[in-house]
Amino acid sequence: MTKPPTARGLHVSLRTADGRSTASQRWLQRQLNDPYVAAARADGWRSRAAYKLIQMDDRHKLIKPGARVVDLGAAPGGWTQVAMARAGDRGRVVAIDLLPMDAVAGATILQGDFQDEAAEAAVLEALSGQAELVLSDMAPNTTGHRPTDHLRIMALAELALDFALKVLAPGGGFAAKVLQGGSEAEMMARLRRHFRAVRHAKPEASRKDSAELYVVATGFRA
Ligand SMILES: C[S@@+](CC[C@H](N)C(=O)[O-])C[C@H]1O[C@@H](n2cnc3c(N)ncnc32)[C@H](O)[C@@H]1O
Repeated sequence: MTKPPTARGLHVSLRTADGRSTASQRWLQRQLNDPYVAAARADGWRSRAAYKLIQMDDRHKLIKPGARVVDLGAAPGGWTQVAMARAGDRGRVVAIDLLPMDAVAGATILQGDFQDEAAEAAVLEALSGQAELVLSDMAPNTTGHRPTDHLRIMALAELALDFALKVLAPGGGFAAKVLQGGSEAEMMARLRRHFRAVRHAKPEASRKDSAELYVVATGFRA
C-alpha cells in the first residue's frame, strides 16, 4: 500500500500529572497517532520511512527491475526492503549504515561509515559493477541547534552525491534527503551539471512540519 488509511479509533494523548507534555511524551504521542507507523507495522516494513521511498518511486520510477541499488544510511532497513522488493530477484541491493542492521533477504548489508575509503570498494564489489541508483536517507545525530543541524545534513547529502558520482553507471539515478533552505540550492545546481533531470520531492509520508525534503536526479551524465 502507498498510503495508510486515515487514522481511525482513539487519539492517544499523553500528559504529566500537572498537564504538561515533555519532549519524549510528544514524540511517543506522535508515534501512537501516526497512521504510517501503524501501516508499516501491518505491512511488514521496518520503518515508516519505507512509504517515503514507495511514494517517490511510484512517482519517479527510480527502482527498475534488475537494478543495482546502493542504500546509504539504511538502518533499520525500510528502504532496503522496498528496494529489494522492487528490484526483484535479478536486482542487487547494497545497504550501509553506521549501525548494525538485521538481514534483508537478498540484500548485502555492510556496517560502517560510507565515507571510509574501503566503503566504495566494498559496495562496488558487492554490486559486481556500477550502480543504477544511489539512495541516501542519511541523517546525522541532531544537536537541536537548527543552523548546525542544517549544515550537517547538507554536508552528508553532498558527500552522498560525491559517492554517487563515483559509483553510478551512465543513465543512473540519485535520491537524497536534504533540508529546505539556503545551501540546498547549491546542491541543486551541482546536480543539474551531472544529471539530465533534477527535482525536489516531498512525499506525503514526510511530515508536513519537518523541513525534510528529497532531491531526485535521473539520467546521470557520466
Ligand atoms: C533516517 S535513518 C534511515 C532510515 C532508513 N531509510 C529506513 O527506511 O529504515 C538515517 C540513518 O543514517 C545513518 N547514517 C548517518 N551517517 C552515516 C554515515 N556517515 N554512514 C553510514 N550511515 C550513516 C544513521 O546511522 C541512521 O541509521
